Order: sequence, then structure tokens, then C-alpha cells
Amino acid sequence: MESFTFRVLSEAETRGAYHWLAELASPQFNWSVGSLEELGRCSTAFAALQEGEAKAILFYRRAGDIFEIICLATQPVWRRRGLMKELIRRFMQTAHAEGTDSGGAARVWLDVHAENEAALGLYLSLGFEVVGRRRSYYMDGGDALLLKKVLPEPAN
Ligand SMILES: CC(C)(COP(=O)(O)OP(=O)(O)OC[C@H]1O[C@@H](n2cnc3c(N)ncnc32)[C@H](O)[C@@H]1OP(=O)(O)O)[C@@H](O)C(=O)NCCC(=O)NCCS
Repeated sequence: MESFTFRVLSEAETRGAYHWLAELASPQFNWSVGSLEELGRCSTAFAALQEGEAKAILFYRRAGDIFEIICLATQPVWRRRGLMKELIRRFMQTAHAEGTDSGGAARVWLDVHAENEAALGLYLSLGFEVVGRRRSYYMDGGDALLLKKVLPEPAN
């Protein structure tokens, strides 16, 4: 992990990730360049960069105390090296440090396709809990599981 930088991307850097994200499009993810551009306009991208390129990326939105991860991906050749786990950890540190409007604990929410075993295994290993299910939520008819993690209370 020493060769990676973890940080929020600029707009230009975010656009640079669309080409490899669009190649991952599947019935589970509608990731055309157009839909990614729309996503980029309404969210913030946080990434693991090496030599100036995002190798793993997550998109999130903040609403008060809630940080919602909208989608994430690791480039296929970089998978199973702990990169996304580290990226989510760094993201949660940033969310914790940023604090919340209420001064209380920040919460991280996300949805995952119920059959996406890789992503579900990742989230559970990071301490996320399944708190709900949205039936037939995805384009392929699959259910979404709603997951939540409450970050530690900020120190006074
Ligand atoms: C899910 C995804 C982001 C994981 O990225 P990654 O960088 O390979 O993840 P990590 O190496 O940090 O994996 C951490 C843990 O997640 C789980 N995990 C990751 N990939 C897995 C797989 N293919 N099968 C089962 N568990 C898996 C494991 O618990 C793993 O720990 P381990 O390697 O010690 O067993 C990646 O597979 C991906 O980009 N998938 C396509 C996009 C996607 O599904 N996004 C989620 C919904 S938007």
C-alpha cells in the first residue's frame, strides 16, 4: 500500500476513471460513460492513486451525518490485494475527521446487490451490518441489501 495515495479526486481525475469503470458494466451495474458523468456531477470521488491514476475508486454523497457510498470498484488487475478495504478504511477516517453537523457519530450507508458476494464479503469484513432489503431494486431484478456502519463518536 506504500506506493498508493488515498484522497479525493479532482473533476479531471474522476473523468479519467470513467473509461475503465464503463468496461465493468454488467446487468448489475449500469455504468455507461453518460451515467458515470451524471454520477460524477452529484457525488465526490475518493480513490487509491498510483502514478496519478485511480486504481480503486468510490463515489459518495454526504447529507448531514450520513455518508452514502453510491458505488465503488477496483481495476480487475488490482483486485484481491486489500486495496478496496484500505480505501474504505481511509474514507471512513476522512468521514470521521470531517465530523458531522450534529457533532455526533457519522454513519456510512450503502446498497449492495444481494448476489454480489465479493462486495458483501468486503463490507461485512469492515464491520458493516445488514439493516434492510429492497426487493427487485436492480435492473436485473436482483434485491438490494442496505448496509450501515456507525463510526466512533468524535473525541471532544
Ligand atoms: C468488490 C470489489 C470492489 C473488491 O475490491 P478488491 O480491491 O478486490 O477488495 P479487497 O482486496 O480489498 O478485498 C477485501 C475483502 O473483500 C472480500 N472479497 C473481495 N473480493 C472477493 C471475491 N471475489 N470473493 C469473495 N470475497 C471477496 C474478502 O473478504 C477480501 O478479503 P481477503 O482477500 O482477505 O479474503 C471488486 O471485486 C470490484 O471492483 N468488483 C466490481 C464492482 C463491484 O462489485 N462494486 C460493488 C458494488 S457498486
